[in-house]
Amino acid sequence: MARITAGVASSHVPLLGVAHDLGKDRDDYFGPIFAGYDWTREWEKAEKPDVVVLVYNDHASAFDMKIIPTFAIGCGERYAPADEGWGPRKVPDVHGHPDLAWHIAQSLILDEFDMTIINEMDVDHGLTVPLSMMFGHVPEWPCKVIPLAVNVVTYPPPSGNRCWALGEAIARAVASFPEELNVQVWGTGGMSHQLQGPRAGLINREWDNNFLDGLVGASEHLRHVPHIEYLRETGSEGIEMVMWLIMRGALGKRTAMLHRHYHVPCSNTAIGHLVLRPDNGEGLDMTGSGAAPLAAE
Ligand code: DHB
Ligand code: FE
Repeated sequence: MARITAGVASSHVPLLGVAHDLGKDRDDYFGPIFAGYDWTREWEKAEKPDVVVLVYNDHASAFDMKIIPTFAIGCGERYAPADEGWGPRKVPDVHGHPDLAWHIAQSLILDEFDMTIINEMDVDHGLTVPLSMMFGHVPEWPCKVIPLAVNVVTYPPPSGNRCWALGEAIARAVASFPEELNVQVWGTGGMSHQLQGPRAGLINREWDNNFLDGLVGASEHLRHVPHIEYLRETGSEGIEMVMWLIMRGALGKRTAMLHRHYHVPCSNTAIGHLVLRPDNGEGLDMTGSGAAPLAAE
């Protein structure tokens, strides 16, 4: 049986992809950002996930105003990095897992989540930057990836509660897949950021850190945070954080934190990163990974 073994959340700031690709990730500016991912890169080498369900948003690379799916799942074999204006990043193509992806699509749709099915698309920084942060420079990504795209660009995005419920439905779908697979769910985007207008550069450390706190343990209060609060408190692009709730919903009633990182600034934004385990009350098996200390801001 396939199992969801962990959840990972991370900002996906495109500048991090540039810094990574140009070898600037240990300089004075980017060093403290990338250092917060060192623990996770080692942990991922030990965890060896077979598949990552990677929740992200496209930034007008695959979808534009012509078509705006609220929730879409990639069922294809392969996805190339998108050309975002500077040319596509020179990172490996992403390999899908069509059997599991079609199984999840069927399960979700019969579970009354009306997913858009994608067989062909390119994937932008929303998906490739988290892969670089978690796996570093590699000739091939070490696992299969099922892209799960969420519309958080054009109003109205889905509610936090709907995102959380989608995560719960993904967990049911994965649990009913007969093959033995180690599956992680990642949520990307955030944290506070506003890229344009008079409030550009808005950062709300307190709200961001309360959000990180709220993903750990058994509380479900984040399900009910209204869109207007994300916009008011964290800027217009802070709404990307609803995607983290899909990851959280997929981990079940209670989570335990393995690693946490928060840093300002990164470009015009705050970056956040969290690694969680489902916590079924039986205690965590930390063999081979070890709990990480709380990373300093
Ligand atoms: C930027 C773009 C993003 O999509 C994001 O999530 C954060 C920052 C940017 O252009 O700086
Ligand atoms: Fe984004």
